[in-house]
Amino acid sequence: NFMKDDDVSQECKNLISSLPSEKDFTGRKLYSYQGSWYYPNTLQAILNFQTHFQARDSDIILASLPKSGTTWLKALAFAVVHRNKYAPNLESHPLLSDNPHNLVRFLELDLYVKNQCPGLEELPSPRIFATHMPFQTLHESLRDSPCKVVYVCRDIKDVLVSRWHFRSKLVSNYSLEDIVEEYIKGVCFFGPFQEQVLSYWKESLVNSNHVLFMRYEEMIEKPEAQVIRVADFLGCPFTEEEKQSGIVENILELCSFGNLSNLEANKTGTSTCGIPHHGFFGKGGVGGWNNHLTDDMARKLDEMVEKKLEGSGLKF
Ligand code: A3P
Repeated sequence: NFMKDDDVSQECKNLISSLPSEKDFTGRKLYSYQGSWYYPNTLQAILNFQTHFQARDSDIILASLPKSGTTWLKALAFAVVHRNKYAPNLESHPLLSDNPHNLVRFLELDLYVKNQCPGLEELPSPRIFATHMPFQTLHESLRDSPCKVVYVCRDIKDVLVSRWHFRSKLVSNYSLEDIVEEYIKGVCFFGPFQEQVLSYWKESLVNSNHVLFMRYEEMIEKPEAQVIRVADFLGCPFTEEEKQSGIVENILELCSFGNLSNLEANKTGTSTCGIPHHGFFGKGGVGGWNNHLTDDMARKLDEMVEKKLEGSGLKF
């Protein structure tokens, strides 16, 4: 699925030549487009998406920064939305035999990598997609569709450490200092963190039927309440009978870190977006950063996020 950086259209090359650029730790160039940083191949996919995507009012789009709980949200939303088609249990369910990223695919990292994805028009409603784009870039392509966008965010420190674990397997000599510097500078894939979080937060305040703002920490703390929130928002609330039958607990069990990370389907294989399935499962949970970041690193990151979010009503 992946293209080389110079394997992009003339249109994309022209755009790139007009955009601010910076190098990442490995020397690979990132470009700033509509307030967010991308590698050329993702930029090309975003252009493809912006040109071709036709939203349906019934579409569901799950949005996040990488390492914020995307895999979990994909599993939960899929299980909730399709619960009448696939009863959530541990005997037979698509989530038991396939990775969540193959059941809910990324727009810009998967479906639109090579021009446009055939077959999207034929998919039955409701279609569920995912993205790491900030709200403003997604919004442009939705062309005022009232479709549902669910955003999940996570403490920057856990996101950063999770991403570092993930990337340091692929990139040698990638130190924590390097990634902290990238996040503080904001020049990182889909970053700056605080800009993206704020883009969805602000929209969720003014357009609460369109954007639901969720937090990984709240999902860990009160998973039932958060799943109920998702179902309500997506227009498929649990009935009293359903609640009494234990379906919410069943969905949570099916989508739990323990269950998903131990499935053969998630221990082996590679997702349609090119990432080994096991790469989406670390330790899970909240506060793992504590074992890695120094107090000074944590303070710098917190201060930076706090400063940006000041007055927004959002706090970490
Ligand atoms: P850690 O690396 O901190 O363990 P994303 O899905 O956005 O890439 O985020 C990955 C993070 O979510 C990883 O965090 C991973 O362990 C955690 N995760 C994956 N599946 C999960 C689940 N079912 N429940 C809770 N956390 C999950």
